[in-house]
Amino acid sequence: MLNFSTINNDQNHIISPIDKKWWKEAVIYQIYPRSFKDSNGDGIGDLKGIISKLDYLKNLGIDAIWINPIYESPNDDNGYDVSDYCSILADFGTMEDFDLLMKGLQEKGIKLIMDLVFNHSSDEHFWFQESRKSRDNPYRDYYYWWPAEKGIPPYRWSWFDVNSNAWKYDEITDAYYLHYFSQKQPDLNWNNPKVRQKLYQVMRFWLDKGIDGFRMDAFQFISKDDSFPELPSEILGNIPEIMKFYGRGPHLHEYIQEMNREVLSQYEVMTVSEGAGASPEEAMLFVDPDRNELSMAYHLEGVEIGKHLDEYGFVNYKKLYSRWDEGFKDKGWLSIFLANHDQPRMVSKFGNDAPEFREVCSKMLSTFVITMRGTPYYFQGDELGMINIRFDNIDDYNDIDTKNKYIAIQSENGDLKAFLEEQKQASRENSRTPMQWNTNENAGFSNGKPWLKVNPNYVTINAEAQEKDPDSTLNYFRKLVQLRKQEPTLVYGTYTLLDENNAKVYAYLRTFEGKKIIVLLNFSPERADYNCGYNLEKSTVLLNNYSTSKKTAELRPFEALVLAVNES
Ligand code: GLC
Ligand code: CA
Repeated sequence: MLNFSTINNDQNHIISPIDKKWWKEAVIYQIYPRSFKDSNGDGIGDLKGIISKLDYLKNLGIDAIWINPIYESPNDDNGYDVSDYCSILADFGTMEDFDLLMKGLQEKGIKLIMDLVFNHSSDEHFWFQESRKSRDNPYRDYYYWWPAEKGIPPYRWSWFDVNSNAWKYDEITDAYYLHYFSQKQPDLNWNNPKVRQKLYQVMRFWLDKGIDGFRMDAFQFISKDDSFPELPSEILGNIPEIMKFYGRGPHLHEYIQEMNREVLSQYEVMTVSEGAGASPEEAMLFVDPDRNELSMAYHLEGVEIGKHLDEYGFVNYKKLYSRWDEGFKDKGWLSIFLANHDQPRMVSKFGNDAPEFREVCSKMLSTFVITMRGTPYYFQGDELGMINIRFDNIDDYNDIDTKNKYIAIQSENGDLKAFLEEQKQASRENSRTPMQWNTNENAGFSNGKPWLKVNPNYVTINAEAQEKDPDSTLNYFRKLVQLRKQEPTLVYGTYTLLDENNAKVYAYLRTFEGKKIIVLLNFSPERADYNCGYNLEKSTVLLNNYSTSKKTAELRPFEALVLAVNES
């Protein structure tokens, strides 16, 4: 037994050894390159733009950036439709710019995580161009084809298809091809070993350049049952059940293990899978260190709660996170996030972005992301407290998701007004608006016409103003990141939910090597009391999102308090 655990003398009890890893300790900052910083006035953010903001990144204190796809792409789904995995999209710059970015990041000690879009490629990728030419083309089985003489293929739902149909008929060879996402994103056939080898080569290409990790897009879908059985009628409408037919196919873990053997284990590399099943048990299969697959996963349940937290129920929400943490308390590792490029703005979805609450609420939500157990993934602009743009007009949208849903509703004579209202809260475009740097034209993002409208509130919400204000959300975020760095308890400590049924406050305890930190988060716009079962009188305030710090039995609206418990 003692081989597997260590004696902690202070405590006189046996604790599991900690498996320390840089990626558990890191704060990862997500850059959506189109919207970060444009360097040449074409209205599109680019690599040189990121390079010009390296000091900003360094000063955030973050350890790594995850950058959304920057590969050659016709941009049907903003880069998630890759037409060449080993070249840089001209809009973003050149391979030379990439090398400069790498060098710049390395000089600042910031790691780089690239997005790996391997469930599908673009239909403009050479492999697909060949594949569709003839049934006996050498690239034919790089994708999933269903010959028309077999009849109409069994229904599969597609995320971005106007008709929600994942099979598209292609006249050239009289066959259908599979696309879980848009028609321009045909699914790669992972059952073909040649495909897997080609994809591993792509990974090696980027790893040899010195990158530090991969965020693996839609990864639970890579293995499919390629007999494509009919969906049993009783499961239609039951998304978790349907998902079993869509992804997490029979060879999923075999392929990930192969990838680990052939590529990942040969490098110092961190990996994170987007989505990892419907339960902590399923997610564990991806990240159990004994299985040699991936470093960590992010579950989508926390963000897929619907449009707003109220609808889901706050007590349930706390249970959801606690349930996932429970599943990973002994091994494996999760990530924590409230926003990304597929979600609306954090403060607009989980909090309250009205002027009187926006700042304090953004700080409170940031406190959750940074102090909860798991590696934080933090989306650009949230450190400024950026909010949903809420477009009134469909023409303002660029995103294929919103646009195609609009077309579908239009063709059914549905309620377009209601849909546009709903998108103001839910559309992923809300988080994709350009970064708000200063009060110059276009928020200092670009000298040209931005590809997506800038939120007009940039005159008050921008980085430059917040640099000067010690109490800004930006400076609060920096303090949070520093706190996490100083307190291993916030990284390696256990998590225990406190005051479970409190309908306003999320309270939890983090414990590590005898040290206790309590986090109190008022998720409501009202004052709220709490009962966490600890005497906090002698505790020390490590961080408070109100500038007039006080410790009372009551929290102010959206107040966040991080306390070191002192029981002696
Ligand atoms: C992932 C990406 C999303 C993209 C989809 C298809 O969910 O995060 O932006 O549209 O995969 O690649
Ligand atoms: Ca540009």
